[in-house]
Amino acid sequence: MHVAILGATGVVGQEILSVLEQRDFPVTTLRPLASPRSAGRTVTFRGRAIAVEAAGPDSFAGMDVVLASAGATVTRELAPAIRKSGAVLIDNSSAFRMDADVPLVVPEVNPEALPAHRGVIANPNCVAIILTVAVAPIHRAVGIRRLVVSTYQSASGAGLAAMQELRSQARDVLEGREPVPRALPHPIAFNVFSHNAAIGPEGYNGEETKVMRETRKILSDPDLAITATCVRVPVLRAHTESINLTLARPLSPERARALLAQAPGVEIVDDWERNLFPMPAIASGRDAVYVGRIRRDLSQPDGMGLDLFVCGDQLRKGAALNAVQIAEAVVASRAAKVPAAPAEVAHG
Ligand SMILES: NC(=O)c1ccc[n+]([C@@H]2O[C@H](COP(=O)([O-])OP(=O)(O)OC[C@H]3O[C@@H](n4cnc5c(N)ncnc54)[C@H](OP(=O)(O)O)[C@@H]3O)[C@@H](O)[C@H]2O)c1
Repeated sequence: MHVAILGATGVVGQEILSVLEQRDFPVTTLRPLASPRSAGRTVTFRGRAIAVEAAGPDSFAGMDVVLASAGATVTRELAPAIRKSGAVLIDNSSAFRMDADVPLVVPEVNPEALPAHRGVIANPNCVAIILTVAVAPIHRAVGIRRLVVSTYQSASGAGLAAMQELRSQARDVLEGREPVPRALPHPIAFNVFSHNAAIGPEGYNGEETKVMRETRKILSDPDLAITATCVRVPVLRAHTESINLTLARPLSPERARALLAQAPGVEIVDDWERNLFPMPAIASGRDAVYVGRIRRDLSQPDGMGLDLFVCGDQLRKGAALNAVQIAEAVVASRAAKVPAAPAEVAHG
């Protein structure tokens, strides 16, 4: 496969490179693309330094797949050229996620949505990916009527600059200097603040709106009652989520634990004796969505309410890994469409 990485110098782009390498994705040629600021830089892939090119409409000729993580504005601008090249665009930004003809795919949750793509497949918001991997098995088994999610989101969710800002501000505070916010609106070191996305007319910020809309689309449940509160915490990577569910039919915590233990992409960390539950220190750099604190919500009728505490690395499952899994599915569907070589005809 001829693969272009649009946004290869960013924190998600770098993670895509390692996931492609780790999963031995069949890369024939790799074209790392970024802004003109990065022209002349290199990225490392399979031990080789590859020059980064400035992305433009001519960057995609001959490519089979474009893995994009350069933000919605850049994707929107370059999408017509990508479509024209014939490459499949797998996009990490919010540009096309809610378009009716664009599948929004979490391979463990709604792989059936993928074949309908018309050249563009959207990778969902990172919170929505981690959330749906954890709740889809419960939704399938008994139905979820209402979902309340509160997040503890890492700095790297806002890009490389925000991740670097957490490191430098932590040093500043420890050495007695005032932390100066640049990439994020408020000090991130030793602080917690409401997610930095803009607040809309109903008081939800843009991240919360994405989580609510996208979760409904991924679960194919437009009527799901869902509310989200998204918060930034001083963690380098991995998002944590507190999830409260109101179920359509009763489900005991024991049955929920058994369902989740078998669910693809989920690992249970639910050790009540050692007080050991999902956390970024466990999830960082790993592929699974970790689920724990599986317990009955005592405020609801028996069996109808469930609480979960979930953590996943948003740079991996929330972005790069999910995108590469989609690319793997694209490769598999192409292989399935290639007609088998004609059997040799025996001449008598
Ligand atoms: N961070 C996450 O956890 C996460 C999770 C899911 C989805 N996403 C989405 O993924 C996208 C990238 O996020 P990120 O966190 O990786 O951001 P980032 O670290 O700031 O990286 C942004 C990338 O986009 C490139 N870029 C910027 N302007 C460009 C232009 N005009 N033309 C071509 N490339 C350009 C940058 O290149 P230069 O280095 O040259 O500036 C860089 O490679 C965003 O849409 C984000 O919402 C992020």
